[in-house]
Amino acid sequence: MRIFRERRADAECDSRGARGTAAPGAGLSGVRAAVAIASAKGGVGKSAVTVNLAAALALAGQKVGILDADLNSPNVLAMLGLQAPRRVFAGEAIEPIAGPLGLRIAASGLLPGGEPPPISFLDGDAAHEAVSRNGSALAELDYDDALRRLLGLTNFGALDVLLIDLAPGLEQLFRLARIAPLAGAIIVTQPSDFAVRATRGAIEIARLCSVPVLGLVENMVGFSCEGCHSVRPLLPHGDLAAVAAADGVATLARLPFDSRLAESCDRGVIFIRAYPESPLAKNFHELARLVALRLKAAAAEPHQLSSAPEEAG
Ligand SMILES: Nc1ncnc2c1ncn2[C@@H]1O[C@H](COP(=O)(O)OP(=O)(O)OP(=O)(O)O)[C@@H](O)[C@H]1O
Ligand SMILES: [Mg+2]
Repeated sequence: MRIFRERRADAECDSRGARGTAAPGAGLSGVRAAVAIASAKGGVGKSAVTVNLAAALALAGQKVGILDADLNSPNVLAMLGLQAPRRVFAGEAIEPIAGPLGLRIAASGLLPGGEPPPISFLDGDAAHEAVSRNGSALAELDYDDALRRLLGLTNFGALDVLLIDLAPGLEQLFRLARIAPLAGAIIVTQPSDFAVRATRGAIEIARLCSVPVLGLVENMVGFSCEGCHSVRPLLPHGDLAAVAAADGVATLARLPFDSRLAESCDRGVIFIRAYPESPLAKNFHELARLVALRLKAAAAEPHQLSSAPEEAG
C-alpha cells in the first residue's frame, strides 16, 4: 500500500494564487473551468455532491470531468460503479477513465487491501519494482507532487467543467490552488456549529489564495421522508446563513439527508438517475444550474462573485 505523504504547506499562499505557479498546463489546457469541491470538515458529502453535480451538469449538456484529488482515500470511481484499470504510470500521459454520461475521470486509483496500484507515481524501474511487489510495500510518495502529475499528465481533452473532489481539510484548497488554475471553489458543509465555524476558515483560505468561492452547499439539512417527501430536522443547526451573509458568499443548495443517496454511492449508482423524481435529485439539478450560471458570470467578469440573487432558500 502506498501513502501519499503531505509535506507541510508553506506558511503563506503564493501571491499569484489561483493562477498557480506550478500549473502543469498540459492536462488542463482544454478545460474551461476547474472547480474545487472543498470542505473544512471530513465526511460532509463532498464526493457524493461531486458525483451528482457532475451528472447533473452532464445531463444539462455540459462536457464534464472529475479529478479525485483525495489520493489516499479515493472513492469517486467506486461511487460511479467503475474500477480503476491496473496500469503503471511511468511518465507517459494518463488517459482518463470513461464514465457514464460521458464523464472523464482521473483518480490515484490507490486501492486499499494490497491490490496492485493501478497508477504508480514512481518513475521507471521504481514503478515496475513497486508493482512487482504487488503493491504490498509501503511507499511514501509526495502528495503535492503526485497531484501535480495527475493533473498535469491526464489527457482530459475539451471539458466545460472539471470538478476536483478534494480530501477534507482547510489546507487542501490551499495546496491545490498552488498547483492548478481554479475558476472557483464550492464549499460543502453541514448544519452544525463546528462545521459552520470551519466553513468560515475555508472561505478565508479561498480568499487568501484568490480562488473565487462559487458558493456553499449545506448538506444533510433535515431528513427527507421517502414516503411523503416532507423534510424534518436532522442535525442541530449552525447559522450558516449568517456566515454566508457576513462573508458575502452565496448558498447554492441546501440538500436533505436521503438514505437512498448513501445506498446509491455504495452501489456505484448515480442517485439523480436512479431517483430522478426525488426532492434531492431536483436539488442537484438546481445546484448544477446555479453553478453553470456562476461559472458563466465568472468567465465574463472575473472576481465579481458575491451572493447570488437566486441562491437556494
Ligand atoms: N444528503 C445525503 N443523504 C444521505 N447520505 C449522504 C448525503 N450526503 C452524503 N451522504 C453519505 O454520507 C457519506 C459521506 O459522504 P462523502 O463520502 O460524500 O463525504 P466526503 O465529504 O467526501 O468525505 P471525506 O471527507 O472523507 O472525503 C457517504 O456514505 C455518502 O453517501
Ligand atoms: Mg470524499
